[in-house]
Amino acid sequence: MASPAAAELTFTTLPHPALVSDETRTAILANPGFGTNFTDHMVTIDWTEGRGWHDAVIGPRQPIALDPAAAVLHYAQEIFEGLKAYKQADGSVSLFRPDANAQRFNASAERLAMPALPESVFIESIEKLVALDKAWIPEADGASLYLRPFMIATEAFLGVRPAKTYKFILIASPAGNYFKSGAPAVSIWVSEYTRAAPGGTGAAKCGGNYAASLVPQGEAIARGHDQVVFLDAAEHKWIEELGGMNLFYIFEDGTILTPALTGTILPGITRNSLITLLREEGLSVTEGRYSLDQWRADAASGKLVETFACGTAAVVTPVGTVAGAHGEFTIGSGGPGQITQKVKDRLVAIQRGKAEDTHGWVRKIA
Ligand code: PLP
Ligand code: COI
Repeated sequence: MASPAAAELTFTTLPHPALVSDETRTAILANPGFGTNFTDHMVTIDWTEGRGWHDAVIGPRQPIALDPAAAVLHYAQEIFEGLKAYKQADGSVSLFRPDANAQRFNASAERLAMPALPESVFIESIEKLVALDKAWIPEADGASLYLRPFMIATEAFLGVRPAKTYKFILIASPAGNYFKSGAPAVSIWVSEYTRAAPGGTGAAKCGGNYAASLVPQGEAIARGHDQVVFLDAAEHKWIEELGGMNLFYIFEDGTILTPALTGTILPGITRNSLITLLREEGLSVTEGRYSLDQWRADAASGKLVETFACGTAAVVTPVGTVAGAHGEFTIGSGGPGQITQKVKDRLVAIQRGKAEDTHGWVRKIA
């Protein structure tokens, strides 16, 4: 669907009647958790068929009015993104590869029959919100401001077809560790459910994928694990990804494997960045297939020495144990491996402005 030139859109700023007090904000930032606290402001931009994007507003974060017949409430026409703003060593603020999130947002929009948002508008909305809510960025190591841009179909219409009106919204949430356990390595549960089938929406970041993952994720938690891992839908044999993270396997000979992007896996921006960083270390990274049976056999023989999961929210997280209907196995020592730790440190250092950004990934904004 066509979008207007970004230049036509100007943001209106609405005053906030009652900002969160400094005292309350400081207490939240001391222990932000993940996803439960929000900043003072939000961005909204509307889209109407025939008119394109209009009414860009940055104002107080507040409930939105939706008609009970709004298409998103019935057929889940919704997409989202996740990225972070980081306090830099020099006190400034940076984003990590927001252009990649803007591109993936539009790829998701296309799959869900939604309008594209110009990349420049996606990034400008983030820059404006982060600048306004700068006081909400936690400074501690491992903490950041998590940004959640999303788009919903707002048209009141019960027929099954793409809506003719949409709303883009951006909210922000101070974030610490994604995993509550804080354990050095996570334990994952191999689900009998599948996440994505060939031809489905697995490569899109749409809410429906996550709704479908709640029961399998709940099973993982109920059995004492941190996350669910999904196998492919066709053969139930090949390892795909976790509920919200991509996977990497590290072998004894220093070679590395990550599942290929076959259309059923989310193309993670962290995954893409780590492939580059690992190759820069002189390691050989292959994108391919890896079966659960092979994973178990290689962990037992010592051929596989490390496995880690990665994503914006989870950063780089070692996988210590894998459990499922077949039983349970441990990877390496069950704790963080050397290569995992090294590449995590390098990524985080680039994100926080402590290591040189040789790829143009870091965007200074405030
Ligand atoms: N896979 C899924 C299903 C996800 O939800 C995410 C998180 O966004 C990822 C992988 C990792 O993607 P990224 O590194 O872009 O955050
Ligand atoms: C992210 O990493 O940004 C995600 O969207 C994953 C989600 C499970 C929090």
